[in-house]
Amino acid sequence: MQHAKLLKNVHLLRFGQPFKTEAVVLPLSSFCTLSPKCIQVTQTDSTTVIHYPLELNDIVYGMGENTGSIDKRGKKFVCYCTDDHLHTPDKQSLYGSHPFLIVDKQNENKQPFGLFIDFPGEITFDIGFTNRNLLEVTIPSLDVDIYELHATNKKQIIHQFRQLTGTPYVPPRWGFGYQQCRWSYHDSNEVDKIINGFRSNDIPCDTIYLDIDYMVEYKNFTIDNNKFPNFAKYVAEKKQQGIRLIPIIDAGVPVSAGYSVYEEGVENGYFCKQADGDQFEAAVWPGLCVFPDYLNSDVRQWWGNQYRQLIEQGIEGFWNDMNEPALFYSKQGIEQVHEMMDQMRSNDCKVQDFFKLNDMVRGLSNNREDYKSIYHTTKDGEIVNNHDVHNLYGLNMTRAAAEGFAQICPEKRILLFSRASGIGAHRYAGIWLGDNMSWWEHILLNIRMMPAINMCGFLYSGADVGGFGCDASADLLIRWTQFALFMPLFRNHAAGTRYQEPFAFDEYTTTTIREHIKLRYMMIPYIYSEYMRAVQNNDCYCWQLGFEYSDTRSARVDDQLLLGHSMMCTPIYTENARGRHVYLPEPMLLWKVAHHTGREMCQLPAGDHWLDLQLDELPVFIRPNKMLPLTDTADNVDAQALTHLEVLVNLHNEASYTLYHDDGVSRAYQQGDFAELVLAVKFDTNSPDGVAVNAQVMCGYIPYQQITFHIITSSGDRIIKNIRL
Ligand code: GLC
Repeated sequence: MQHAKLLKNVHLLRFGQPFKTEAVVLPLSSFCTLSPKCIQVTQTDSTTVIHYPLELNDIVYGMGENTGSIDKRGKKFVCYCTDDHLHTPDKQSLYGSHPFLIVDKQNENKQPFGLFIDFPGEITFDIGFTNRNLLEVTIPSLDVDIYELHATNKKQIIHQFRQLTGTPYVPPRWGFGYQQCRWSYHDSNEVDKIINGFRSNDIPCDTIYLDIDYMVEYKNFTIDNNKFPNFAKYVAEKKQQGIRLIPIIDAGVPVSAGYSVYEEGVENGYFCKQADGDQFEAAVWPGLCVFPDYLNSDVRQWWGNQYRQLIEQGIEGFWNDMNEPALFYSKQGIEQVHEMMDQMRSNDCKVQDFFKLNDMVRGLSNNREDYKSIYHTTKDGEIVNNHDVHNLYGLNMTRAAAEGFAQICPEKRILLFSRASGIGAHRYAGIWLGDNMSWWEHILLNIRMMPAINMCGFLYSGADVGGFGCDASADLLIRWTQFALFMPLFRNHAAGTRYQEPFAFDEYTTTTIREHIKLRYMMIPYIYSEYMRAVQNNDCYCWQLGFEYSDTRSARVDDQLLLGHSMMCTPIYTENARGRHVYLPEPMLLWKVAHHTGREMCQLPAGDHWLDLQLDELPVFIRPNKMLPLTDTADNVDAQALTHLEVLVNLHNEASYTLYHDDGVSRAYQQGDFAELVLAVKFDTNSPDGVAVNAQVMCGYIPYQQITFHIITSSGDRIIKNIRL
């Protein structure tokens, strides 16, 4: 019998017989099943409602991939994975469903608490929108698991939540390089042209993405040989050039006789059904599609194995798309539109009818009635309606892929991220934030989403840099890159717009972005190390400031982020700005990186500052007694020599840093096969320059042979010291 460790501070309230979402990895016996400490729960006919009275200064963090500021108060959100390319402030649902929040009491005598609703269908969070003093969560069911998490601080709540939901996905180290995408680079000639653009402009790049046009008629797992002749050879050649090709895989399967994935799925009954038992069909990019029933483990196994066809041709990464699932229209929907048009014709086209038709046409896509007509059959033979378990679909597509990879290449890490997600999907893959726009507001949205997504365990994430829709201006791309270069997933993507590769504008833009991307490559030892430490310690990589600092100002900062243990970023996200206000909760070292003025450094005291920032100037803040390890840049991650570490040290009295390193490609780290290098710097009156440095390999293999410490003391003195390992 399994004896689970009791998590005394996690209270589970189980109502009825909840659907097994598998969001939580711990057995039921791990939780206290006492009554809740904070929330009130009531059940009526078919609904469960949670109430919590909000105090005036309470802050609500969380809700993952959603619009709004970092404090979610004053808004309403609906957890229901939705393909919505227009991320305007009024939107209540985007691609992911992340029903986890933390209520933070701005009161020394009261502790924060976390709330997680483990329910696979629609959940409405009214966070002081209808009534400013009330948090109200509505679940349209009597079967639900509700978790209340208690701890003395918010970080501990994150630790607990991660214990519940499992360890985040780890990509290969090359997945931390710069990545370039566009819908589409149509054929090998165009891909080559883009690669040449990077290499001839001396801009590092690790991957080029293949959007749906690489396939034959948008059929997953096929390659159009006219566009990519001898694909396996081509993939190998690109790898030689330091570029990995990353194909897209869509959730739907085109209805097409003779297409093996379709035929096999039909034969085995692997696709979702309608109420009458026929296959559910709706249109996505290829036209009419059927939808694999990813909730069934047999289907997952079959689907996961399909990736083998591409992996055997040398592919090492994928992005899973359209898996909310996106439905452009169903036959029934189109039928209703036809009826409406007939009615209009016989009715002399009344204005009201025009608006009705307009709404009807717009409502064709991702229509709730269509989701309600989809049925899943689980491995146990249970039949469930998609609407009731809607948020599990994309998650299980991603799970199918990840479980497939574990079978196909158990030793190796495969790059994977998804568009739709739910709680628990972070164990299988990262996410990207879907179809944003080349709007300045979307840089800010990107900044604000990152800590909320990290709270749910999605550490490998990022938005389409430069914006997916609309034409990007050169300035917008520069400023967006200045933020995104700190994010684990750093990918520029657009569709149907002007080209927005770093070299697609003018000389100034190319030079500026080149410098920024090179800075990213220099920071990879730090970003990777902090990522892995967040994985190991149940932490986040991106933090809202209030998770680290207890002052009331920090709790409300929502345009600056802490990145790992040492760094803070303060991006510019407004057009034509040449500076911004920055709040420092403690004194910090400012490293201003620019291509025309070089690299300036200065100590700044705690408090408010105005920073002048020309278009090419990028601020990096290093916290007191912390370090930022850097290495030499290269064309791509695998080409980085990793012989020399340059460490920036903000020395106030004693600084230390533990650098994590591993082979970057295998899963051996899971068995403890990784290295740690501990760096230490302190004031020392016995040393001629007044400072002592130390570097010690604690475990594993560290490739660096030479370490140069660039020490900037709190009084602004600069000392350089070298150590050979
Ligand atoms: C969806 C994806 C986008 C992709 C496009 C074509 O809109 O979100 O990233 O480029 O489909 O596949």
